[in-house]
Amino acid sequence: MIAKHGSYFHLASHNSSLILHIRDSGHPELLHFGARIRDREDGFPGLIQDFSFIPGIETAYSEDGGFSLQTISALMPGSGKGDYRLPALELEYDDGSSICDFLYHDHRIYRNSGREHTREPSHSHADSHADSVSNSDSQAASQSPEPAVSPEPVPGARALPMPRAPGETLELILKEAVHQVFLHISYDLFPETDVFACRCRLVNRGRELHIHRIMSMNLDLSGDDWDFISLEGKWIREKHIQRSPVPRGRTSISSRRFASGADHNPFLILASPGTGETEGECMGFSLMYSGNHEMNLERSEYGQVRVQCGIHDHDFRWRLGEGEQFSAPAAFFSFSSGGLGALSIRFHRFIREHVIPPRWRNRTRPLLFNSWEALYFDFDETRLLQLAKKGKKLGMELFVVDDGWFQGRNDDHSSLGDWVADSKKLPGGIQGLSRKVRKLGLQFGIWIEPEMISPDSDLYRSHPEWAISSPLREPSLGRHQLMLDMSNPRVVDHLHQTLRTLFLDCEPDYVKWDMNRSISDPVSAHLPASRQKELGHRYTLGVYELLKRLTDEFPDILLETCASGGNRFDAGMLFYSPQIWTSDNTDPGSRVKIQHGSSLLYPQHCAAAHVGSDPSHQTLRNSSVSTRFHCAAFAPLGYELDLQSLSPFDEKIISGQVALYKEHRELFQFGTFHRLASPFEGNTAVWQLYSEETGTGIVGYFQLHQEASPVRERIRLRGLDPGKKYTIRTAPHFLNILRFGELINGYLPFKVKASGLRGLAHKVISDNYLFPAETREVSAYGDELMEAGFRLWPQFTGTGYNDRVRIMGDVSSRLYILQAVDEAAEPG
Ligand code: GLA
Repeated sequence: MIAKHGSYFHLASHNSSLILHIRDSGHPELLHFGARIRDREDGFPGLIQDFSFIPGIETAYSEDGGFSLQTISALMPGSGKGDYRLPALELEYDDGSSICDFLYHDHRIYRNSGREHTREPSHSHADSHADSVSNSDSQAASQSPEPAVSPEPVPGARALPMPRAPGETLELILKEAVHQVFLHISYDLFPETDVFACRCRLVNRGRELHIHRIMSMNLDLSGDDWDFISLEGKWIREKHIQRSPVPRGRTSISSRRFASGADHNPFLILASPGTGETEGECMGFSLMYSGNHEMNLERSEYGQVRVQCGIHDHDFRWRLGEGEQFSAPAAFFSFSSGGLGALSIRFHRFIREHVIPPRWRNRTRPLLFNSWEALYFDFDETRLLQLAKKGKKLGMELFVVDDGWFQGRNDDHSSLGDWVADSKKLPGGIQGLSRKVRKLGLQFGIWIEPEMISPDSDLYRSHPEWAISSPLREPSLGRHQLMLDMSNPRVVDHLHQTLRTLFLDCEPDYVKWDMNRSISDPVSAHLPASRQKELGHRYTLGVYELLKRLTDEFPDILLETCASGGNRFDAGMLFYSPQIWTSDNTDPGSRVKIQHGSSLLYPQHCAAAHVGSDPSHQTLRNSSVSTRFHCAAFAPLGYELDLQSLSPFDEKIISGQVALYKEHRELFQFGTFHRLASPFEGNTAVWQLYSEETGTGIVGYFQLHQEASPVRERIRLRGLDPGKKYTIRTAPHFLNILRFGELINGYLPFKVKASGLRGLAHKVISDNYLFPAETREVSAYGDELMEAGFRLWPQFTGTGYNDRVRIMGDVSSRLYILQAVDEAAEPG
C-alpha cells in the first residue's frame, strides 16, 4: 500500500512501514522505517521531532521558522546548507559552485505495474504514464514546456539491473533550489516479501554540470544504538560475518576493484544489540551493483544513523550535459522484528522472485561436474571424454569444460580474448567436443572470461588499444592479464559477436563467466580526458550490456558468473546469472563459513558449491567425501575432482550422494533456509532446509573441530508445523575403516594391520567395506522438535563404540532427513 495524506507518504508492506514527509521548506524526510504501523488519514505529525530552536553552533536553513538540516532525517541529502554529515549527492555546476539543495517538486504513484522491468518515463517527468497517479497540483505546473531530456546516451545504461515487477512505486521528484536539475527518487514496494527498493535518477535541464557523488539510497534512521554486520573477506575466504557496535562518526566498507569484490560485499545489516537469529530488530541494505561501491554509516551527534550506499566516489566524476540524465544503481532494503533469520528469508524470497532471471525462478539446476580441479590445463579431447564418461557413470548430468580449451591456452599466461578452440587439444573444435559429450547423455557447459585480454593473444596484437592501460606506463598485470575496455561499445560489440558465434557453435546448456583480476592503470583509449573518471561505471555498464544481449538471445543457457570465486557476488550479477560460483575454496572446513555468511542475504540456489578433492587444493586439509558433499549439497551441486582416481570407497559413496541429491534436489535448492547454529560463534554450523508444501526437510550438522569428550548436543528445528508428526532419520552414512587405525581390531571379527605391508589388507577392506554409522530414526511432533529439540547421540569419547555413538572428527558432518507423517495413513 502506498498512501498519501497531505504532506505524508506511507509505504506499507505486509509487516513494515516506510513513512516519508515533505517539510514546509520542501525538504523530504524519513519519519519511520520499521515495523508496520496503522495508517492514519491525518498523517503522522507525532513522528516529527524537531528542535524548537537551533541547537548551539548549527546552521539555520532559513530565518523564518528556522530549522537545521544537520538535525533532520534526510532522504538524499546534498551539501552546503548546514548538513555536515556525508552527503548523498555532490554536484559541481558550470560556475564552479557545488551547493546542492533538493526540494519537493512533484510525485507519482505507480500501482501494480506487474511489469518485469519497470522504468519511469525517461524523457520528461511530465510524460503521461498509463498506470500512474500524479499529484494534481503539479500536473498543471508540469504542462509548461520544458526542454526534452534525451535517453541516457551511455552504452549499457538500459542494462542497469533493477528489481523486477514491483507492486507499487512512489516516485518523488525533487528540484534543486536554484538550478534546473531534478532528482527522481523512486521507492518500489514488494509487499509480500517486505522488501523496498530505491532508485535515483538525476535529470539535468540546465547547463552542463559534473556529478562527483551520487548515492543510490540514503536513510537517516532514528535511534543510534545499533550493531553493524557485514560480510568481509578475500579470495578463498569470502563472506565472513563481522559484527561490531556502530561507533560515532563514519564507518565505511567499499570496493575499488571495478568489481564488487570479496573484501566487502555490497551489503550491510543494522541490528539492535542482542539481536539473534530468532529475536531482535534488524534491517538489511543491499546495493544491486557489480562495480566500485561504498556502503556508509554515520552515527551523528543527534541520535541518528545515516545509512547510504552507491557507486564509490573514488575516481568518479560524471559530466552531465544539458538535457542528459544519470541513473544510479538500485538498492533494496528490508526490516525484520523477528531476528536475522526472518530478515534472510525475506531477502531469499525477494532475490528469487524479483532479482534472478524469471526463467530460473522455479527451475532446478542440473548436477554438474567441472574439469578444472580434475585436470587444470592438462587435457585433450580423449582425457575430457574419459572424465565425462566417468561422471556419467556416477550419475552426473552436465559436464563443464573449464579453462584451457581455447587456442594456445596451456597455462594462465596467454590467449584470453581468442575464443576459438585449440585444435591440438580439440581436433573437432568445441562443437565436436560438445557433440561427443551430448552423445554420452550429458549436457554440455563451457568456461569463458570475456572481459579479459592476455598481452600474448591475437586479440591484443590486433587491438592493443582495447586493453585498459596507460600509454605512459608499463601496465601492472593481474594473473598475467589485462582488462578489456568495456566502456568502448566496439569492444562490447566484438565480444557479443564472438560469444554469439561460440554459443551458436556448441550450444552450451551452461556457461561459466569468469573474471579473474582487479583493475589497475585505469585509463581508457576510448574516453576523452574529461571523461576518464567515468571509466569505472562505464566498464560495469558495458558488462551489463553484454550480459543483457547474450541472456536475451540465449535465455535457456544456465549462466554462472564467477570472479576467482566470489569476488563479484552481488545482486547486480544475479539479475543476469541465477547462480554465482561462491568461492574457489571447496574445503568444507572453510566453506561452511562462506556459505553460512552468504546466506545472510543470498538464497542457496544462487551460491554454487562443488565437492572438491582430498586434501583440499586450497588448504591442504583432509576431509571425508561425505562432509564435502554435505556442505556442497546446500546449493546447486557440482563435483570438481579427478573422478578417475577415486578410491572404490569414495566412488560408492559418491553414487549414493548423487542419488540422494536427485531425490531431494528441490529441497536442497529451494527449501526455506534456517541457520540453526553459527560457525562464527561456536564449533558447529547447523543448517535446516524445509518445504512447507511437502513437509520435508533436511538438516546439515557440521563440526569444525573434534573436542575430547564432547558435551551432549541437541538441535532445535524451526518453521515446522507444531501439530504435525515428523520422522527424522540420518541420511545413509558410512565410515572408512582407515579412520580407526589399529583400533578397528576391537570391532572386526578378525585382525588386520593398519600399516606396513600387512596394512594392505586394511586398505583392501577399507576400499570395499562401507562401515555403517548412526542409522537413527525417531518420530516426534513439530513442537517437540522446535521447543525441546532433536537430541543427538553422544559422540565417541575414546571408550567403546556401538551404533549409538556418533563418530565425528575435525571437519565432519551428518545429514538428517525430516519427513511429515501422514497420520491418517498410519496403521491404528
Ligand atoms: C578462476 C575460477 C576457477 C577456475 C579458474 C580457471 O580461478 O574461479 O573456478 O575457473 O579461474 O582459470
